[in-house]
Amino acid sequence: MYSSVKYVVLVLLLVQILLLACNRKVAPTFEKDVASIIYAKCTKCHNPNGVAPFSLTSFDNIKKRAKTIAFVTKNRIMPPWPADYTYTHFVGEQVLSDEEIQILQDWVQAGCLPGDLTNAPNAPVYQFKSFLGKPDLVLTYSDTMYLKGDHLDRFYLMKFPYQMSQDTIVKAIEFVPGNTSVVHHVNGHIIQYDDGMKKDIFSGKRVISSDSIEADKVYSELDVANDDGSYPVLTQSAVNYLPGVMPTVYPEGLSGFKLKKQGAFLFKDIHYGPTSRDTFDYSRINIFFAKKMPARLTRELQMGTLGITDIEPPLVIPPNQIKRFITKAKINKDISILTINPHMHKLGKSFWAYALPPSGDTIPLIKIKQWDFNWQFFYTFKKMVRIPAGSTIIVEGIFDNTIHNKNNPFHPPREIAERAGSMRASDEMFQFIITLMDYQPGDENISLEP
Ligand code: HEC
Repeated sequence: MYSSVKYVVLVLLLVQILLLACNRKVAPTFEKDVASIIYAKCTKCHNPNGVAPFSLTSFDNIKKRAKTIAFVTKNRIMPPWPADYTYTHFVGEQVLSDEEIQILQDWVQAGCLPGDLTNAPNAPVYQFKSFLGKPDLVLTYSDTMYLKGDHLDRFYLMKFPYQMSQDTIVKAIEFVPGNTSVVHHVNGHIIQYDDGMKKDIFSGKRVISSDSIEADKVYSELDVANDDGSYPVLTQSAVNYLPGVMPTVYPEGLSGFKLKKQGAFLFKDIHYGPTSRDTFDYSRINIFFAKKMPARLTRELQMGTLGITDIEPPLVIPPNQIKRFITKAKINKDISILTINPHMHKLGKSFWAYALPPSGDTIPLIKIKQWDFNWQFFYTFKKMVRIPAGSTIIVEGIFDNTIHNKNNPFHPPREIAERAGSMRASDEMFQFIITLMDYQPGDENISLEP
């Protein structure tokens, strides 16, 4: 009797083990396993209106690239997310779990089984050239920009006048590059005209090459002034772009500023990196309106290049060297950090920022172990991060000016420096921009998920 119970238990155990083994062998299918991963983690860029060069929105176009997908996911090249996700977390974190990566590998290895395609989830639809949905106002170039394949950096001033029926509130502005391989950065401001101050906001030049004009002639060529010769209000840094940047938008009530019904966006400037063949760009600005003004205002703290803190030692990177630099900011009153943006150029190797409070543990901000010039995100924390008065924010950047850095613009390497804040891709920058507010109790519980 006793031994037959033992026997039954043994058989049951064997069956269990067999089942487990079989289960594990079931190859993943597109329908059950793969579609949901790709549609959640890839299509926001890989769609017909997206920034990536091809779509991953159907079984066919995913299968066609299966081998490359297996490669770029296994090596964590895609989805792009340079920040160390074991150090700090941000809104919109684009990271595959180890399990998801394994599913993609197994799927490709087993021959990309479709499963029942009629049952597969539908790819999300992206109707607009935007990460945020339908813009309320779109401004485009007056003409396509043609760029010569002569290996030169180009800087332009551009004006985009707009006329609306009434004043409004803006919660987000998005620059969408037309040609991601050449658009390097945009610093965009807004000229806001008070009612009745300028008859023809559309007059003046729309595009001027920065090299071809003296600084004091810029505003007259673009015809920026009011009719009486006085100058309108300039809203600084309303829209910025760096390679790979996605727009920052906070929940309703946390961001927004007034926009006059008449005005113009002013790129001062837009930088096109060097290209080896003739090409063109047709970028756009998407504007999103808000319902109400935020109760509190954000501001920026800019550290390092062009900022308020010195780089130690000064940013000069001798050839054939890997060199470390630091910049520090003392915080005098309690602040809440919303968003951070690390910035370096092509010699960047790693980037690390944290705060040392007067007492207590180090506050981690961001760690990028392998700097990637092509993905320079503005990282928004999931909840505001409080930095107490008396803290020091410390930013450490390591630059690699050896031949082992495959992005090194010079072979053999040359001395590279920060040249009076020059933004040419072959000069260097070491910069950390922090978007913050004065701290209010409870800030650390405010979610910044849109
Ligand atoms: C933030 C936008 C974004 C996301 C999210 C994203 N990609 Fe990409 N992907 C791009 C861009 C842009 C390129 C082109 C890059 C280039 O040319 O250097 C690209 C290139 C690729 C390539 C071609 C690489 C090569 O070397 O030819 C593959 C394959 C790819 N992505 C797969 C994926 C997969 C799979 C996912 C999701 C797991 C994903 N991507 C998520 C933007 C994105």
